[in-house]
Amino acid sequence: MELFEHLTERARTHRQRIVLPEGLEPRTLTAADKIIADNLADITLIGAPADIMAMAKELKLDNIQKANIVDPADEEVIDRYAPLFYELRKSKGITMEEARLTTHNPLYLGCLMVKAGDADGQVAGAMNTTGNVLRAAFQVIKTVPGISVVSGAFLMLLPKGSKFGTNDTLIFADCAVVPEPTAPELAQIAVSAARTARDIAGIEPRVAILSFSTKGSAKSDRVDKVIEATELAHQLDPNLILDGELQADAAIVPSVANSKAPNSPLSGRANVLVFPNLEVGNIAYKLVQRLGGVQAVGPVLQGLAAPVNDLSRGCFPEDIYKTIIITCNQAIGLKGL
Ligand code: ACO
Repeated sequence: MELFEHLTERARTHRQRIVLPEGLEPRTLTAADKIIADNLADITLIGAPADIMAMAKELKLDNIQKANIVDPADEEVIDRYAPLFYELRKSKGITMEEARLTTHNPLYLGCLMVKAGDADGQVAGAMNTTGNVLRAAFQVIKTVPGISVVSGAFLMLLPKGSKFGTNDTLIFADCAVVPEPTAPELAQIAVSAARTARDIAGIEPRVAILSFSTKGSAKSDRVDKVIEATELAHQLDPNLILDGELQADAAIVPSVANSKAPNSPLSGRANVLVFPNLEVGNIAYKLVQRLGGVQAVGPVLQGLAAPVNDLSRGCFPEDIYKTIIITCNQAIGLKGL
């Protein structure tokens, strides 16, 4: 079964509740309509109900009437969620009045619904910047126990029959969030990426933490960081099949691994590639995508206590539809279903 067929079936079986804070964004509304029509999730749209219904009518989206609509201007809604935001942020010095103001912001309101247990995940970013989508999630949802850093992975869907990865899939991380991770942060990114490999790609992770050095072939502070991250990742998850520091070829080409890293538990068959910083990760995924004819799905945000995913502002309804399905699957994975 193709990856998205599998993810779609899993979403349908373990129905989740997804909140879309950009309820008045036409591509979002179109994707929401199809999710409801395909019976894949319960959708909450944030926005003025009359405006959402008028847009749905104009776009001929008949299923939107089955969505739950939450009005961010409704003071009863603010009464319900602002105290939660105040509790979460009072140590940062915010007042209840400031908490109420922030709760009117749909990106925060959606995250607060998830935090309160009224939704299972959020998808936004068709009309908001990555920074704004992430900041709301960082402040409200926070990280899963044992992880303090949120990062972003891409599922790299390789051409059929590829000799790389597993089931024609590689996971790349972090390609989206943490500009210059410390060694402990890099270790957490590796463990989170392994979880993404299991929960979303359905593959047993074999994790390589990458460098320009393989097993001491070069000396540098940057190499030391990767060596330390590898040790820390082993401590975080002793059962994980993981190795570093490895060059990319020693990670994914068995013959190169055999000569450069003969004792590597990966044997040149890594399926999760962890990059030493965001510059490398972001550039690598874009080059592989463009030069290799590889489909890049993501970024899938990993490390949050409940899933929130960010869209590109240039996205199409189909991208939003797929991101909702991925978000459902992350929620299902986090609940251990
Ligand atoms: N994980 C968890 N929490 C975080 C993280 C993180 N990675 N980064 C920041 N936080 C928390 C902070 O601890 C802080 O919490 P607090 O307010 O409770 O103390 C809060 O979030 C705000 O922290 P700031 O340092 O103010 O974060 P800032 O808002 O400056 O930056 C951001 C966060 C926007 C994500 C920044 O790291 C960033 O811009 N990253 C790059 C994003 C990007 O442009 N990616 C490339 C494009 S995406 C693509 O190509 C697919």
